[in-house]
Amino acid sequence: MHSIAMFMSKLVLLLSLLISFVSSEDTSFTFDGFKSANLSLDGIAEITSTGLLKLTNNTNFQMGQAFYPNPISFRNSSNGAVSSFSTTFVFAIVSEDAALSGYGLAFVIAPTRGLPAGILSKFLGLFNTTSFVNPKNQLVGVELDTTKNPEIDDINDNHVGIDINGLQSERSATAGYYADDNGGFRTLSLKSGQQMQVWLEYDGVQKQINVTLAPLDVGKPKIPLLSLSRDLSPIIGNNMYVGFSSATGETLANHYVLAWSFKMNGQAPELLLSQVQLPPILVGIERSKFLTIGLPVIIVSLASVAISGVIYVIRRKRKFEELLEDWELDYGPQRFKYKDLFVATKGFREKEQLGKGGFGKVYRGVLPTSKIEIAVKRISHESRQGMKEFVAEIASMGRLRHRNLVPLLGYCRRKKELLLVYDFMPSGSLDKYLFYQPTLTLCWSQRFRVIKGVASGLFYLHEEWEQVVVHRDVKASNVLLDGELNARLGDFGLARFYDRGTDPQTTHVVGTIGYIAPELTRSGKATTSTDVFAFGAFLLEVACGRRPIEPRWRTEDAILVDWVFSQLNRGEILGARDPNLGADYVAEEVELVLKLGLLCSHSEPAARPSMRQVVQFLEGGIPLPELPSVGLYASGLTFAMSYPVAPMDNAFTPLSSIADSLLLEGR
Ligand SMILES: *[C@@H]1O[C@H](CO)[C@@H](O)[C@H](O)[C@H]1NC(C)=O
Ligand SMILES: *[C@@H]1O[C@H](CO)[C@@H](O)[C@H](O)[C@H]1NC(C)=O
Ligand SMILES: *[C@@H]1O[C@H](CO)[C@@H](O)[C@H](O)[C@H]1NC(C)=O
Ligand SMILES: *[C@@H]1O[C@H](CO)[C@@H](O)[C@H](O)[C@H]1NC(C)=O
Ligand SMILES: *[C@@H]1O[C@H](CO)[C@@H](O)[C@H](O)[C@H]1NC(C)=O
Repeated sequence: MHSIAMFMSKLVLLLSLLISFVSSEDTSFTFDGFKSANLSLDGIAEITSTGLLKLTNNTNFQMGQAFYPNPISFRNSSNGAVSSFSTTFVFAIVSEDAALSGYGLAFVIAPTRGLPAGILSKFLGLFNTTSFVNPKNQLVGVELDTTKNPEIDDINDNHVGIDINGLQSERSATAGYYADDNGGFRTLSLKSGQQMQVWLEYDGVQKQINVTLAPLDVGKPKIPLLSLSRDLSPIIGNNMYVGFSSATGETLANHYVLAWSFKMNGQAPELLLSQVQLPPILVGIERSKFLTIGLPVIIVSLASVAISGVIYVIRRKRKFEELLEDWELDYGPQRFKYKDLFVATKGFREKEQLGKGGFGKVYRGVLPTSKIEIAVKRISHESRQGMKEFVAEIASMGRLRHRNLVPLLGYCRRKKELLLVYDFMPSGSLDKYLFYQPTLTLCWSQRFRVIKGVASGLFYLHEEWEQVVVHRDVKASNVLLDGELNARLGDFGLARFYDRGTDPQTTHVVGTIGYIAPELTRSGKATTSTDVFAFGAFLLEVACGRRPIEPRWRTEDAILVDWVFSQLNRGEILGARDPNLGADYVAEEVELVLKLGLLCSHSEPAARPSMRQVVQFLEGGIPLPELPSVGLYASGLTFAMSYPVAPMDNAFTPLSSIADSLLLEGR
């Protein structure tokens, strides 16, 4: 029924339009309030019982328009040029929360009455071009804009603009007026709820448009706010409609027009201002509604519906935008949709954050369809240099499968951002069990199992997979524990990330202070042997419950490896064990781990065991060789420490070669 009624009324309008005599004489009308006005209303626009034209109300993404019902001939019949005309109106934008105010409203001269079918759809269609301006629009408007939209070069969130064929104002100025007494500029706030009057005048001979704004009690200032020299003849068609347009978007504001007059070839009739006051009660009600609902109303300029809709779409699109290049198609199954990751992590909410490391933040999430629990690491990067190789490496690492490695499920790439998706490890990282004792602590047998697990994972990376993978950042905080407290090494190859996006002249050593082998700082070349060095520091960490460097300790004891070595020389190496272990430990195993830690920490790479040997020592297959009694350890770390350290979280980054690859092919 409703739609038939709508259709009929449209038909009637159409017929009346066809029949209606387009006035060639000078159109003139005055509405001192709209109680008996015969306006053509569209959208949610309404005329209130008190005779106010209310273009929008507190409903999001709605539009309201009101047009004078008959078309107006703007042209002089003898020369076809657009004649002089003038219009004036009083408006009020009632918005309680200035910070959330909406778009504003606009007076428009348009070829059709129903902008949605005509101009609006055109505007929408326009967004595939670089401009919002299209000569086909045949549109002239005055916008009272209360938002700053950088996409159309808005100057601020409180301006008046003259729009020709689009929303990119030809002229705009901060809302205000030049006082007649001294010519000083007085700023006005459009969304203050104050009633203001606008005058639009076009001089068909001078080909000039003036727009003037003033508070209701001031009268028309002599100097216009905006003046634009422009012949409107090519823009305005033969029969045009005049009216107002506004819309609500994500935020809201009430927009009222209280009075309006128009005249072709002459001064728009004076408005009887006494009749157009917003009744104080109405203002009060509207304001209190705002306060309670907390929604400021928006009104929009010419095509605000279109704009808000399109901006929403653009924002949404931008929000989920990814980078995907042809070469990535090979990694199809490992490529995640950003949107899925966004949904999984509830928009990367603070609450879902698992941790923060040198490479970025890690978030917990649940994949929307499969319900798999994941951990997403967000890494920001500046440059795309080397990204292709890096993603290739990541993808190939995605095929690494070992019970002591955190499975890398895939990745996603955005502008300046790389996201790595891992299996979620419910028990978190090992360091929190070592350094935040005694709340959380691991007994010796659990620690020994963790150590053997990490050794096994690292051995797989070094020797058992099809390529040699150098981890580059072995340390307790990179060891994660799964539900059964099995150790899983995470972040393999990520340390290399810092190599990317740097210029080839400045190269980086990557890793964490205290775990960086001395030769790495000299050659910059990460090898399996530098991994073994870091593993040595890790062993001492787990057995002693101490970080490799404790700056707060006495200087001679601050470096863990030196301290353990001094304990060894005193013949009481077990004294280095974590006191939190209590009496519950296997002395031989603790001694083995401490000595192996020292051996791996040897400053001479050749003196360090391979991971294969490490695994054998730990399994008891072969006995540990006698340790040299000379302190070769301190030299290593002291050397590393004496290098200039660029603090980057806790990563150490002096030199390295961009050419050395994470995956050393063909060993
Ligand atoms: C209002 O418009 C309708 C249809 O266009 C017309 O029938 C009616 O007479 C008009 N009323 C006034 C007061 O102009
Ligand atoms: C806004 O106007 C529409 C149409 O008149 C109406 O359905 C809706 O309930 C109004 N909303 C509010 C919040 O007044
Ligand atoms: C129309 O144009 C003619 C010739 O330029 C001019 O003499 C006349 O005054 C104009 N009429 C109006 C109503 O502007
Ligand atoms: C905008 O897109 C529409 C539909 O894709 C197309 O027909 C039109 O030519 C495009 N306009 C411009 C200016 O590219
Ligand atoms: C616009 O304002 C200027 C400066 O006040 C004035 O000289 C000119 O006549 C005005 N033009 C119109 C069309 O009102």
